[in-house]
Amino acid sequence: MTLEIVELGRAIRARDPARPSWPEVIFSYPGLHAVLWHRLAHRLWRWGFRGLARFVSHLGRMLTGIEIHPGARIGRRLFIDHGMGVVIGETAMIGDDVTIYHGVTLGGLSLKPGKRHPDVLDGAVIGAGAQVLGPITVGRGARVGANAVVVNDVAPGTTVVGIPARCVGEGCPETVTVGYGLPSGEADPVGERLARLEAELRALRAELARRPVA
Ligand SMILES: CC(C)(COP(=O)(O)OP(=O)(O)OC[C@H]1O[C@@H](n2cnc3c(N)ncnc32)[C@H](O)[C@@H]1OP(=O)(O)O)[C@@H](O)C(=O)NCCC(=O)NCCS
Repeated sequence: MTLEIVELGRAIRARDPARPSWPEVIFSYPGLHAVLWHRLAHRLWRWGFRGLARFVSHLGRMLTGIEIHPGARIGRRLFIDHGMGVVIGETAMIGDDVTIYHGVTLGGLSLKPGKRHPDVLDGAVIGAGAQVLGPITVGRGARVGANAVVVNDVAPGTTVVGIPARCVGEGCPETVTVGYGLPSGEADPVGERLARLEAELRALRAELARRPVA
């Protein structure tokens, strides 16, 4: 617990341009409190105390304005900035070092039980008010613009904006690579895979560049 507070606090101080002091981070950052409430709720959920888990998550929501379903799986150093109005669904998965701003939904589109919420991979940033819907993947280091509505996978290291979200800037994968020698209009699976690998490589390089030199 203490280790997690220190780790989260460091992440918040590094990623918030307001550069808060340690007391500010510990006492006045709802994003930090929400993650700690969620750790307790998630543990109870996994132990089978589902009603109690929901109650703990409800208390966390009352105190922070951030609603995280106790079933959601959340990695290390999640920074939820401002927080109010964030909703994270039951089958959502969040990797390490993700940043989420206020008003974001990681929600479902289907009423059927089972996997129905997004996976947000390491280092992704989800802008204020963005709605990320369905069992899609936001790739490593990807950025989702404020108020975007995302219903398709986001390639690693790319930026998407708008409604419905579209890729802008560098690294956008070609929508369909037509394969040489394939019947006209047919996609080239190898080319598509290469484009995805290139985008992933760019995201990894960007991540390495962000890390401080030891
Ligand atoms: C999406 C985002 C990450 C893009 O940053 P960037 O890579 O520097 O991209 P640019 O600002 O160069 O914009 C690229 C294009 O997308 C457009 N764009 C940028 N953000 C947009 C948004 N949220 N919605 C719609 N279009 C957007 C720009 O107008 C530009 O369009 P153009 O090429 O036609 O001129 C950033 O604009 C954003 O929305 N960040 C979220 C920040 C946030 O939520 N802050 C809350 C703090 S409290």
